[in-house]
Amino acid sequence: MGGDTRIRKVIFPVARRDTRFLPASKAIPKEMMPVLDRPIIQYAVEEARAAGCEKFIFVGATDQAALEAHFDPSAALEQRLTESRAGEPEEGLAAALKAAEIPSGDAIFIRQHEVRGIGHALLCARDLIGDEPFAVILPDDMILAERPVLAQMVRRYQDCEGALVAGIEVPRERVSRYGIMRIEDDGGDIVRVTELQEKPHGDDVSSNFSITGRYILPPQLFDALAAATPDQDGRIQLTDALTGLVDTVGVQGFRYQGERFDCGTALGFVQATVAYAALRPELAPSLKTYLRRFLERAE
Ligand code: G1P
Repeated sequence: MGGDTRIRKVIFPVARRDTRFLPASKAIPKEMMPVLDRPIIQYAVEEARAAGCEKFIFVGATDQAALEAHFDPSAALEQRLTESRAGEPEEGLAAALKAAEIPSGDAIFIRQHEVRGIGHALLCARDLIGDEPFAVILPDDMILAERPVLAQMVRRYQDCEGALVAGIEVPRERVSRYGIMRIEDDGGDIVRVTELQEKPHGDDVSSNFSITGRYILPPQLFDALAAATPDQDGRIQLTDALTGLVDTVGVQGFRYQGERFDCGTALGFVQATVAYAALRPELAPSLKTYLRRFLERAE
């Protein structure tokens, strides 16, 4: 156990062709939709950076030009902003632009041509990872947390082997929307996983401890992915491949500190927007006044 626990590389699967945000996501990847003033993919990159990641691997579909451009340097834009606001330095804006940049060589964009699921997306990045543990962030799970969740996981990973998967209890009626982990619960923040199921239905449900899109994965996962049987839609599910690790290197669930928003749904998106806006001093007072009035009117 232990040793060098640095997690240098992170993969963002961004080719998931979700119909829930059409037509908004017709011409841009849905990860480019903004919560306030930045696209959700940027929150994910900032979280990975805060956890110490240095190489950012995006596995996208063929229409990811906007996403690639978003992480380019913006020297010309910064210059124009400074000139047009002479004497009124917009430090916040410049910092926000800087946070969106990834230095040369650190952003790697690869293509997933087929619709074959997150597991297949990770396999596309296999040669870039090599023989070290790596992180995966599913950007449409946004998590508000004092310490970003991936950083919480990297810190705790030194006490683990195998895979570490973020999890949270959800109401029973929502388990069919998520990957589910059956755990040996001892009340700690790290729990041993004995079984995994992807979006189980009916009597088949083994637990309500659901997977949130943050993972630290061992290189052995790739063999499990290559061996995994695709589901009925032809997708290779990461959850199924993790099942293959339970009896070998092991899988742990991680109870994180933070509030999760499922931005794969319209409601989650709206909730995230309100919650993140409430943290902005320039927006919070007016937003709260509006929400109070809105609720009074609605009652
Ligand atoms: C994916 C995973 C699922 C996980 C979920 C978290 O599902 O396959 O195991 O619980 O992300 O958001 P998707 O959102 O792609 O349907």
